[in-house]
Amino acid sequence: MKIGILISGRGSNMAAISDAMASGEIPASKVAVVISDKAGAEGLTKARDRGIETVVVERKGRSRAEHDTEIGDELEKRGVELICLAGYMRLLSPEFVRRFAGKIVNIHPSLLPAFPGLDAQKQAFDAGVKVTGCTVHYVDELLDHGPVILQKEVPRLPDDTVETLTQRILNEEHDLYIAALKKLQSEVQ
Ligand code: GRF
Repeated sequence: MKIGILISGRGSNMAAISDAMASGEIPASKVAVVISDKAGAEGLTKARDRGIETVVVERKGRSRAEHDTEIGDELEKRGVELICLAGYMRLLSPEFVRRFAGKIVNIHPSLLPAFPGLDAQKQAFDAGVKVTGCTVHYVDELLDHGPVILQKEVPRLPDDTVETLTQRILNEEHDLYIAALKKLQSEVQ
């Protein structure tokens, strides 16, 4: 399974996925390319350190659809079979979602459908929930929406701050993304 990962920032999920593929924990899979819409994304260095090809495709005032077409072309050129969004901070165009229908997955730091959008951990914290978590799901044309692949609950502890809760969710995200990709990989066998 050849995958492409889209990032905009830190890239810790990208690193976790890449390491799990390189070690064989996710079998018969390889990260073909990491694409960022931000030239300064920290995750680009993490990818290069792992010997993974990186490409920067900036928006540069173009329409969402034009930007996404260039990203799609870079993915297709490399024969990518599955696209993983990992902290990619742009909503994808409907054209892109249709072009790669059923082949795009995302991770989100809440138990979707609860708390879509930005700062999901803070949204959950402020709402006073006792349990939140993270979700890996197929991407459709709506934000943080589409069929769920796996979810993991994370309790909010009595002395949690938004920061400590966010960090515990992030630790679970890495394991959940790996588990979801193992599941998808076993289904294409
Ligand atoms: C993660 O919390 C992910 O769920 C959200 O953005 C964050 C990205 O973190 N979509 P990283 O870039 O993978 O470290």
